[in-house]
Amino acid sequence: MISLSGITKTYGAVTALCNIDLTVNRAEILALAGENGSGKSTLVKILSGVVVPDSGTIRIEGKPVAFHSPLEALDQGIALVAQELTVLPHLPVYENVMLPFVRHRTRRLVSRSNLVARTTQILDELGVQIDPYLPVSRLGPVQQTFVEIAKALVVEPKLLILDEATSRLGEKEVDFLLALIKRLQARGLSTVMITHRIIEMTSTADRAVVLRDGAFAGELPQERLREHELVNLMVGREIVRRTKDYAVSAAAPRLSVEDLQLAGTHKRLTLDVQVGEIVGLAGLVGAGRTELLEALAGVRRVAGGVVTVDGARVPVNNPRRAVLCGLALVPEDRHTQGLIITDSIYENYELGAVPWLGFVNRTRGRLRTRTAMARFGVKTSNVLAPVTSLSGGNQQKVVIARALSKNPSVLLLDEPTRGVDIGARDDIYQIIEEQARNGMAVLLASSDLVEILGICDRVLVMHEGEVVGDLRGDLISEHNIALLSAGGKLESHVYAH
Ligand SMILES: Nc1ncnc2c1ncn2[C@@H]1O[C@H](COP(=O)(O)OP(=O)(O)OP(=O)(O)O)[C@@H](O)[C@H]1O
Ligand SMILES: [Mg+2]
Repeated sequence: MISLSGITKTYGAVTALCNIDLTVNRAEILALAGENGSGKSTLVKILSGVVVPDSGTIRIEGKPVAFHSPLEALDQGIALVAQELTVLPHLPVYENVMLPFVRHRTRRLVSRSNLVARTTQILDELGVQIDPYLPVSRLGPVQQTFVEIAKALVVEPKLLILDEATSRLGEKEVDFLLALIKRLQARGLSTVMITHRIIEMTSTADRAVVLRDGAFAGELPQERLREHELVNLMVGREIVRRTKDYAVSAAAPRLSVEDLQLAGTHKRLTLDVQVGEIVGLAGLVGAGRTELLEALAGVRRVAGGVVTVDGARVPVNNPRRAVLCGLALVPEDRHTQGLIITDSIYENYELGAVPWLGFVNRTRGRLRTRTAMARFGVKTSNVLAPVTSLSGGNQQKVVIARALSKNPSVLLLDEPTRGVDIGARDDIYQIIEEQARNGMAVLLASSDLVEILGICDRVLVMHEGEVVGDLRGDLISEHNIALLSAGGKLESHVYAH
């Protein structure tokens, strides 16, 4: 139905895509897989008119087409939900959702109440309730993502492209979205899905195409669409699971939190993290994990409670003092909180390293940046390039590298490997473990159970703003985490203060 042939795209010295052929059939769900920087986003941007290729042809039903803008692609029924949020923050939800529809599907005047009604209907289909009059800036990343998806669906596309759309969503929302795609498939919709969660591909896609370093690496039909085969194609090597080779000290806690009360709530949070311990924070979206991490980092208002790092009290509601006391946060949303999009990789990295020295040695700074990028495996030829020239996963590595550059005693990670591929994840896990071995306390919020089960020594489960479980040893299981997250109770006694 839609096919690309001989697509090549270069950015300066970087070949993002080299001679790619791809066909998307009618009513097919195609997974596009590959490690960070392999060219997935570039390919779907070409497919949706955001980026013009250097060479190659796009055909729809056999006829060559050339897109010069996303609107031209939209007219042909191709809608993209981009990896980066594109909603306009100051506009209300319904205007964001209906924008493409109003501009390109109708010349007639449409009443506001109609637009609102249609918006509500689409959001209903997506299984979310969002006030259509709210400005998008007031929504969290999950809701903003649904606004993006609604905006793509409103034009009733033939081809829906989801570039990491699920990465900002929790498990329940992902299930709902994937079920919706399947329902729309029955009505003839084709979908190209990009996701780093392999289970989403194996459970939903009819076929997977794998890219590696901008080239076609292979293709898997549904019957061969298994984790093992996908990973091998993506990475081109086998991934080995790490095992921990040191014990967590049970001396005085590195981080201790007592009766922390967030502004506007009456719930109190008490927890601690030992020297060298990696503690997972599990729970559903909205359980309060991000809020807790933000409160600890001083960026969310706290009404009461005591936070100490190595026994020294950390003044709350003060992000700068939190940093000076050894707390570093890697925020959930790298675009609004983590990176300054207009700046270079170097400037973003060094942001955390030197600002108060006054005199900045740029040459040494660049060298530091280069060393750090090499250590994290960030593929870039030039650290002075804008940070947006990096792929999504590589941008995330810059944020983590920067947090670690401050040598924190306590590292607060909020969904650190969202959008990061398996190979790079492994690098990040190794770095986290290395830091923990050297005594750093790590508090890691993640919706990815594989991640929680894989690297955490202990798991705290949150539900509706409270810590409802403290799982250790054999009690750390997918079953127990899911049960507690959903508000259930374990039979055995697992939590007491
Ligand atoms: N605007 C740009 N300027 C310069 N280089 C770019 C630009 N966009 C992409 N690239 C480069 O092209 C390559 C492919 O990037 P792309 O974003 O397509 O990767 P990806 O597979 O989507 O990765 P991820 O999983 O991290 O999102 C990368 O090396 C990236 O740095
Ligand atoms: Mg991408």
